[in-house]
Amino acid sequence: MQRLRRLRKTAVLRKMVAQHHLAIDDLIFPVFVVPGKGVRKEIAALPGIYHLSSDQLVEEAKNLRDLGILAILIFGVPSKKDPLASGAYSPDGIVQKAVRALKKNVPELVVITDACLCEYTEHGHCGIIKDGYLLNDASLQLLAKVALSHAQAGADIVAPAAMLDGQVRTIRTTLDKHGFTDTAIMGYSVKYASKLYDPFFKSVKSAVAFGDKRTHQMDFKNSDEAMREMALDIEEGADIVMVKPALFYLDIVQRAKSEFKMPLAVYNVSGEYAMLKAAAQLGKIDEEQVVIEAMTACKRAGADLIITYFAKDIARYLSGHF
Ligand code: PBG
Ligand code: ZN
Repeated sequence: MQRLRRLRKTAVLRKMVAQHHLAIDDLIFPVFVVPGKGVRKEIAALPGIYHLSSDQLVEEAKNLRDLGILAILIFGVPSKKDPLASGAYSPDGIVQKAVRALKKNVPELVVITDACLCEYTEHGHCGIIKDGYLLNDASLQLLAKVALSHAQAGADIVAPAAMLDGQVRTIRTTLDKHGFTDTAIMGYSVKYASKLYDPFFKSVKSAVAFGDKRTHQMDFKNSDEAMREMALDIEEGADIVMVKPALFYLDIVQRAKSEFKMPLAVYNVSGEYAMLKAAAQLGKIDEEQVVIEAMTACKRAGADLIITYFAKDIARYLSGHF
């Protein structure tokens, strides 16, 4: 008779037959870089996550390296914004400077940059707006400049985040034309228009001044379309594809892994982090156990990489008693 409990009887047996494992190598830690020197300020919307100036980011990068974390994803929080988001592609922009400092001081840490415009435009949209509508092709030209400036600063991977049609192709072509054939692209391939990004908007002060992002980000009612988005990113030259957010979208993750044999990332976004943190702070859940369970679920669904604000905590848990 089959008795499935036989192999659950002891911790050693459970360990032997465990199928899916969360590893420190899977984690990507998002960081927020701000102007100035010596700045290390906790973000109210994301408890435990900090605004860091470049010099502090270098120190943080050393900590991450010592924890065994292999990669970071950088966001810039600029002090000035303008309609053409010029800070996003200036060679002396906040992200470009941070990337150069990181590559000089902690060269082994993989640097991924978020290539978008919404942190740099006054209206908070991901490109150029005309009559209230986000222009696609005109904005692509700016996005290509952003990605190129990140590659020139030394980024290992650029991550186009705008969900514009053709963004991966435009960026791949531009990078290649300038000799950056080995700079990889991690596409935000399947990014849903989600209310779970709200703590992030507070963190980067980029809430949209009007409208929303539903004319370019995906409708959460759709799943076949997610496969079309991903197929296009792959065709256009993405090296890594992504599903975002993570935990409400694991059906999409599982489908993506079975349809495309690609390195697959999930983004455990700010709202997901905030929910778990808040519940833990209220004493409703055990943070460590629930975070491990949630992140292992991402792996089980098929994710190879997990972008998460919990990365440092998980690295500590995994090197400890888990
Ligand atoms: C775009 C970008 C966003 C997030 C990451 N990159 C916001 C958006 O797509 O509208 C959200 C990340 C999070 O909520 O943690 N630059
Ligand atoms: Zn954007």
